[in-house]
Amino acid sequence: MTSIPSAGDPVGASLRAAVFASGGGSNLQCLLDVERSAPDETPWRIVLVVSDRESAGALGRAAEAGVTTRVIPVSRRDPTEVADETVDVLTDAAVDVVFLAGYLRLVPAPVVARWRRRILNVHPALLPSFGGKGMWGRHVHEAVLASGARVTGPTVHFVDEEYDEGTILAQWPVPVKAGDTPDLLAKRVLEAEHRLYPAAAAHLCRALLAGRTPSPLDAPGPHFGASALPLDPAMP
Ligand code: GRF
Repeated sequence: MTSIPSAGDPVGASLRAAVFASGGGSNLQCLLDVERSAPDETPWRIVLVVSDRESAGALGRAAEAGVTTRVIPVSRRDPTEVADETVDVLTDAAVDVVFLAGYLRLVPAPVVARWRRRILNVHPALLPSFGGKGMWGRHVHEAVLASGARVTGPTVHFVDEEYDEGTILAQWPVPVKAGDTPDLLAKRVLEAEHRLYPAAAAHLCRALLAGRTPSPLDAPGPHFGASALPLDPAMP
C-alpha cells in the first residue's frame, strides 16, 4: 500500500477527480486504495471513472468501490461529438482534475483546453523516449529491451493535445536487468508506477488547492519513502 506523505495541506481538503481507463485498471485501484486508506490525507476524491470500452476491467473496480462509471465510446464516432460528451460528463460531475490510467485514446482538445494542467497521465517509460502513438503496453517494454537501454521507469506528465508530450511532473528510474523479458520489465515498472502515480497526483492536487503551480517532483526524493524504493541500484 502506498502512503502519501502529508505536505501540511488542510485536513480533508480534496479535489474531485475523474479517472480515465481503457484496461485492467491497476493504477485506478492504487489511487482508490490510497484514497480509502487515508481519506484525510488524500487530496482527491475519485467521483467518476470513464472508459472508452464496456469491457474495461477498470469499470468493475470502480463499481466495486461504489464510484460512478461512464462509458464514452470513441471508435467510429464524430470526434466533436465525443469531445462534447466528455466535456459534459466531466462538467456534470464537477470534476477538478483528471488522472489517465491506461487510457488508450487521445483526450479531446476541448477537454485539454478546459482542464489544462489539471490532467495527468502515467506512461511506463522514461519520456521523451519510448512514447507517442502506438507506444503502449507491451510495445513500450519491447522497444526498451530492443534499444539496449539499461534504465527505464514510469513518467507522470501533464496531458496536452499530443500523445505523451506534455510537461513531465515526475519520473522514477527502474533498472533493465540481464535476462529481462517484456513481461518482467512491465511488472517491475508497474510496481514503480503504483508508488509514483499517487504521489504525483497528490503533489498536483496540493499545489492546485494552494493556488500554486506544482514544481517537478524529484523521484526518488523526499516525497517518497527511501525504504520503499523499488529501484535496485545493483546493475547487471
Ligand atoms: C500502465 O502501464 C500505464 O503506465 C499505461 O497503461 C498501463 C495501465 O495499466 N499508461 P493498468 O490498467 O493501470 O493496470
